[in-house]
Amino acid sequence: MKHKDKEILIFDNIEKIIDHAVEKWTEVAEQSVKEKGIFTAALSGGRTPVMLHKALSEKKGLPWDRTHIFIVDERFVPFDHEDSNFLMIQNTLLKHVRIPSENIHPVQTENSTPVLSAEKYEKEMLSFFNISENEFPRFDLIFLGIGEDGHTASLFPGTPALNETIHLAAAVTQSVKPGKERVTLTFPAINNAGNIILMATGVDKASAIREVIEEDSSMPAAMVRPERGKLFFLLDKDASSLLSR
Ligand code: 6PG
Repeated sequence: MKHKDKEILIFDNIEKIIDHAVEKWTEVAEQSVKEKGIFTAALSGGRTPVMLHKALSEKKGLPWDRTHIFIVDERFVPFDHEDSNFLMIQNTLLKHVRIPSENIHPVQTENSTPVLSAEKYEKEMLSFFNISENEFPRFDLIFLGIGEDGHTASLFPGTPALNETIHLAAAVTQSVKPGKERVTLTFPAINNAGNIILMATGVDKASAIREVIEEDSSMPAAMVRPERGKLFFLLDKDASSLLSR
């Protein structure tokens, strides 16, 4: 199903979503390496990506030596904390593939503050993508999820990071409990990507998915609009159950 600037793909179950996501990863990785010699991807946290990462870790022939992994958003906790997205990504993917350590770009959450960490992460992206402060990185592929409130990355409804138009990363410290601060990519970094895949499963996401796809929504996930790229929604039957056919 195509909506003006997005492709909605509906699958019987999460296994079929993951199969398609791995195919897309493989296609974009091979194309990016062929064209530029590297492939850059940014990964989200949460539960949905766990199966994707495990499937990627088992996929043969991916160009891990040319792949650079960034983090879409991070909980501001130590890397060994159970809430750490980087810990989840390491345990489900990075420890199982032959990716050079210099190709892994976590958000530094130790010996820092959320604001300093966001500034440092932005500097790392500026340097890696060899861009100046008023330019935006072009990730080849970004994976996003969506919350029931329509958040994506750590871009939550009503928070200042939603309105960031220059900086590539932001600290999320307002309207979160102490110890629940985050660092997130902002829309300038997200919406310049070549490909964005938003995966959602389960009936609890159905209402947000319907609003984001079919209404003129102000939800953060509705602000995901790649300027010069493609946006794919990979949904299971439950998450897509409220979409008009
Ligand atoms: C995070 C994620 C977040 C996630 C959504 C969906 O750090 O939690 O980046 O944005 O993608 O909350 O999470 P689930 O995949 O667990 O439903």
